[in-house]
Amino acid sequence: MSEDLKKAAALAALELVRPGMRLGLGTGSTAKHFVDGLGAKVAAGLKVICVATSEATQAQAEGLSIPMSTLDETLELDLTIDGADEIDSALRLIKGGGAALLREKIVAAASKRMIVIADTGKQVETLGRFPLPIEVVPFGLEATRRAVAAAVASSGASGELKLRKRPDGSTLLTDGGHYILDAHLGRIELPEVLALALNQVPGVVEHGLFLGLATAAFLAGADGVRVLGD
Ligand code: 5RP
Repeated sequence: MSEDLKKAAALAALELVRPGMRLGLGTGSTAKHFVDGLGAKVAAGLKVICVATSEATQAQAEGLSIPMSTLDETLELDLTIDGADEIDSALRLIKGGGAALLREKIVAAASKRMIVIADTGKQVETLGRFPLPIEVVPFGLEATRRAVAAAVASSGASGELKLRKRPDGSTLLTDGGHYILDAHLGRIELPEVLALALNQVPGVVEHGLFLGLATAAFLAGADGVRVLGD
């Protein structure tokens, strides 16, 4: 996706921000454009209070002097703006390509509205072409991996589970100190069934299926920004 399309989706979502709002700030290259735009508005006098979904976004927002809070101080948010890796027509998402799924889901769940910003290429008929990130605790990794594989199979899906690595070959650690298993499933015909099965596995901290959380998606394409939902 070109930076122009990411920026177009982000700037369209920025129009929803009102003075006094409590905002959740997403993670990733598209959300980064939103935070940049918000920083410019804050510098021009807009008053908002924000909660970040990752250390990277926290650092970006602080660098722009955006007033930051936590979910311990600000328990409910008005609006969260975040990117996604896949979006279907029912606004079901795969997230976690940037390894921030755990905080992203906690922040989205604490928000009255969650708006997804993306390009139209992220819209899919069936979720699953993008590998599903599953965040797991390091303890008992192989036993958890086997239980995850069984949970995946019980939902009717199948595919390889790959431990996410950094470019230098070391195992990636999330902001919460966990590992990520990327499930290469191709198609997830029953996302709700898979989500429920994964939720039952001890050792699984969270997974990247965001179901019933997004209230709208701003999808940027060559012919402008289309709104799905809301
Ligand atoms: C991070 C995410 C991101 O929102 C998702 O990966 C999309 O990122 P980008 O805007 O860079 O394509 O879920 O965990």
